[in-house]
Amino acid sequence: MNVLVTYATRHGATAGIASRIADSLTAAGHDARAVPVEDVTDIDGYQAVVLGSAAYMFHWLKPAVRFARHHHAGLAARPVWLFSSGPIGTDQVDAQGQDVRISTRPKEWDELVPLIRPRGEAVFFGAYDPTAPAIGLGETLMRRMPAAAKTLPAGDFRDWDAIESWAAEIATALAGTVA
Ligand SMILES: Cc1cc2nc3c(=O)[nH]c(=O)nc-3n(C[C@H](O)[C@H](O)[C@H](O)COP(=O)(O)O)c2cc1C
Repeated sequence: MNVLVTYATRHGATAGIASRIADSLTAAGHDARAVPVEDVTDIDGYQAVVLGSAAYMFHWLKPAVRFARHHHAGLAARPVWLFSSGPIGTDQVDAQGQDVRISTRPKEWDELVPLIRPRGEAVFFGAYDPTAPAIGLGETLMRRMPAAAKTLPAGDFRDWDAIESWAAEIATALAGTVA
């Protein structure tokens, strides 16, 4: 099956997750490619779509939100999965005791899920390199805060086993879908 894995990234961590998902789907016998959302003009040639973005300040990146809104009819008409990249760090629960993969669910999913009706959604731990130049005012300001090292722990926290298991679930679901 022809699968588009499309993503929005600021610093590249989400691109890495998208590539791993595309590689896993390809290894499972599908024809999958990872493409930045900015480079996708239409989804007609794809039978299924995996759409992902990094989360910043509780929001998905704007190019991913724009893509989802613009293509919502086409997305709703085919099997779709959503993923988000972020949180960072090793804490599995936040100060309120909630799983961080729930508390960092991007705000836009409340709007997009009913619109697109994805078969599944996943939040994966991301990566953050404080030596890379900051992108955008919000990131620049956050880095200057005294608690920056605690709020923004440095490192690559991507859980490749979780990412590959999720991709395997998608591959299995697609194998049972009539093209
Ligand atoms: C300034 C800043 C704000 C962030 N805000 C969030 C957030 O609100 N929720 C979250 O889950 N992750 C947040 N993160 C973590 C990023 O989502 C994570 O580093 C992600 O993997 C980056 O992906 P990218 O390299 O594709 O841009 C933030 C990171 C930075 C640097």
